[in-house]
Amino acid sequence: MTNTLDRRTLLRIAGASAGTAVLAGATLAAAGTAHAADGAFRHGVASGDPLPDGILLWTRITPTPEALPGSGVGPDVDVRWQVAADPDFRSVAAEGVTPTGPGRDHTVKVAVSGLAPATTYWYRFGYADGWSPTGRTMTAPPVDAAVDRLRMGVVSCANWEAGHFAAYRRLADRGDLNLVVHLGDYLYEYGTGEFDAGGTVVRPVEPAHEVLTLADYRIRHGLYKTDPDLRALHAALPWVITWDDHEVANDAWSGGAENHTPGTEGAWPDRVAAARQAYQEWMPVRIGADGAIYRRFRYGQLAELSMLDLRSYRSQQTSGTAVDDPARTITGDAQMQWLKAGLAGSTARWKLVGNPVMMARVDVGSLPAWLLGPLGALLGIPQNGAVLNADQWDGYNADRNELVDHLRATGTRDVVFLTGDIHTSWANEVTTRSTGLSDPAAAEFVVPSVTSDNVDDFLNLPAGNGLSLLGATLLRTTNPHVKWTELDGHGYGVLEVTPQRCRMDWYHLADRTRADSASRWVAGFSVGAGSSRLRRENAPAG
Ligand SMILES: [Fe+2]
Repeated sequence: MTNTLDRRTLLRIAGASAGTAVLAGATLAAAGTAHAADGAFRHGVASGDPLPDGILLWTRITPTPEALPGSGVGPDVDVRWQVAADPDFRSVAAEGVTPTGPGRDHTVKVAVSGLAPATTYWYRFGYADGWSPTGRTMTAPPVDAAVDRLRMGVVSCANWEAGHFAAYRRLADRGDLNLVVHLGDYLYEYGTGEFDAGGTVVRPVEPAHEVLTLADYRIRHGLYKTDPDLRALHAALPWVITWDDHEVANDAWSGGAENHTPGTEGAWPDRVAAARQAYQEWMPVRIGADGAIYRRFRYGQLAELSMLDLRSYRSQQTSGTAVDDPARTITGDAQMQWLKAGLAGSTARWKLVGNPVMMARVDVGSLPAWLLGPLGALLGIPQNGAVLNADQWDGYNADRNELVDHLRATGTRDVVFLTGDIHTSWANEVTTRSTGLSDPAAAEFVVPSVTSDNVDDFLNLPAGNGLSLLGATLLRTTNPHVKWTELDGHGYGVLEVTPQRCRMDWYHLADRTRADSASRWVAGFSVGAGSSRLRRENAPAG
């Protein structure tokens, strides 16, 4: 791969774009759909992991009709790429050629460096006589820059069979975001009908069976990237992503998963290796040579974003008093040390943590059976009288205490966890026995699923039904550090970070089964610098 840079162009770009660039959305959303479904670039384009001087670009080429995802056939080819300061590619800032072929499922990933900070760029790939759709992306501000504002879309849990990805489309259309943060469950491993929209398959997955092999995972990734709304959001903004369990299998831990049967589905390490290879090929993410996906991003003096991996190193899920066992871990030792040192030592105002599973304690022990049933199915709570969801941080008390105690001991403030996984919306203050309710150690904003089932879907009742509302009230009463929760909505969050405050706005879809579904603002909560107390907002951020 080559990476040429026109120095005069670079200087012109750098001079023209001070501060944090913001996208204008309309052309972007169009960019994701401006190509034929049978074209060479039918899986769209994407960018991710922005640095002050670089960005990761992604595409997949279908050079011949038979070179389909997972097929293992098709020629080795060279794919051109260009990064420019304008959408017409008159001022090319970097360009090159990169090879691909069936050995990497014809995916293309280019780590472009030498770019200007805090700058919007357009990019495209070329093959034969044609160009891919154009993507737009932006680099991060310099580490020492004073940044006024950062806005990001926050999403998780996009189940193909449960609906369409209108949440992605609505984010792509906004035009005021710098970034998308995806907290995991980008795709699901199930076969058709095994996890759908409350019993209805809105659209069937490919392959039709549960994905197990490298070819299976490649086909499933390929299917997802035919979705026009997903492609639009990838083309519109850089993404920073991490995985949760379903990128491999439900309730994964370091040595297995709830949805993995070694006797009939092969050895767990083989399945993980297949899933991770396909993920590495198909996602715009930088994964270390050691396979580590946990990593950190900086947005000037304003914010740092630590993305966690809570699946690869964790102990097996348990229940009862074993959740307090200090020998058990959700992060693994190396990631815990990296997280503690990074949070306490950060010079950024806001320490954001991309946290795939919920940090705040949720005690469900006193909830009535009618609610525990669907909540249990949703949260993965064993139906044997367990009072906690042992798949989230509640199941790994020693690690949570170690992290929170470290924040307190080092006087580390302004930590905000951004969380997915449980398909419901929450605004939490993070407390432990050592903090008490009066002075929470951190804030936590939990975004709903893009489409995956939640409480009304399990109850087979409409959104906003009385049982869900009562359930939310009971959860808040039982858990006073939970300041708000909503159990029925699907959609996304928009996080706005300024030097003074960090706020999340929740948007829910009218109908997850419709690609053109509208979304509406349902709640906003903010936390001020120096405090972790949540404040309710009365209107969406302007
Ligand atoms: Fe999920």
